[in-house]
Amino acid sequence: MIGDRMMGIEEVDSVHLDRGIFFGDGVYEVLRSYNGKIFAIEEHFERFANSLKAIEIASVDVSQIRAKVLKAFDKAGIANAKIYFHITRGSGARDHLPAANLKPNFFLTISELKDNPKLKNEGVAVSTYPDIRWKRCDIKSLNLLPNVLAKGDADKKGAWEAVFVDDDGLITEGSSSAFFGIVKGKLRTSPLKANILPSVTRKYVELAAKNIGLGILEKSMTPKEAAGAEELFLAVTTKDVIPVVKFDGKIIGDGKPGKWTKQLIEEFKKFTS
Ligand code: PDD
Repeated sequence: MIGDRMMGIEEVDSVHLDRGIFFGDGVYEVLRSYNGKIFAIEEHFERFANSLKAIEIASVDVSQIRAKVLKAFDKAGIANAKIYFHITRGSGARDHLPAANLKPNFFLTISELKDNPKLKNEGVAVSTYPDIRWKRCDIKSLNLLPNVLAKGDADKKGAWEAVFVDDDGLITEGSSSAFFGIVKGKLRTSPLKANILPSVTRKYVELAAKNIGLGILEKSMTPKEAAGAEELFLAVTTKDVIPVVKFDGKIIGDGKPGKWTKQLIEEFKKFTS
């Protein structure tokens, strides 16, 4: 049955039998372009290949996917684009054990990215949420239910992003972003382990930090440390660096984007122009 319509399984369009829907059995990437140029394409495809490998989807030629993405980007003609794509293990009758002959499904969307200057100029609020995710958050998997719940919780609290806190009381990352602080004059962020996504933007933020002489400490923060940080910010492909001015209701610094954060935003522009 689809909606109110009863039919034989053979009549059902394979799109409804996608293992991505049944099990979240797939992986994805999000890229963006600045003025007609895709940013950090190598890093995104390297991570995509790692995700595919980690969930044992072996029959996909990543260079072909890359060619498809480039073709679609070219055809769309959108200078500042958000490119989303995913691959699922394929379509078939619902069975946890995938059939041997499945053909992976590919899906892609390209849309215009309209940057909202208010986010960067004024900063955003974040709220904490328990990190109830699985132990392989380094895989960019389609299973995002905890992230969706966390974001909804933040929204209810008037926050723009949720920040996950694990069972040890340590911040891991945002629901769809990497999380950073400036603590005692150093850039602080969680170390790259299986419990967070190896954010591409993070790599460039760290490069920007080195360029402006800001020391880096990869050590997870507690919510208490974050609430007392000199500055906080988020990093994500679609928006690069977003200042955080409120953490669980506590004003950070003077309630305005911090000086290091602003410098990092300026430095980041050099990578994207
Ligand atoms: N999210 N951590 C999580 C859990 C994320 O979902 C993302 C990105 C990041 C930042 O990664 P990157 O810098 O490579 O974009 C960190 C994407 C954009 C999304 O799911 O829409």
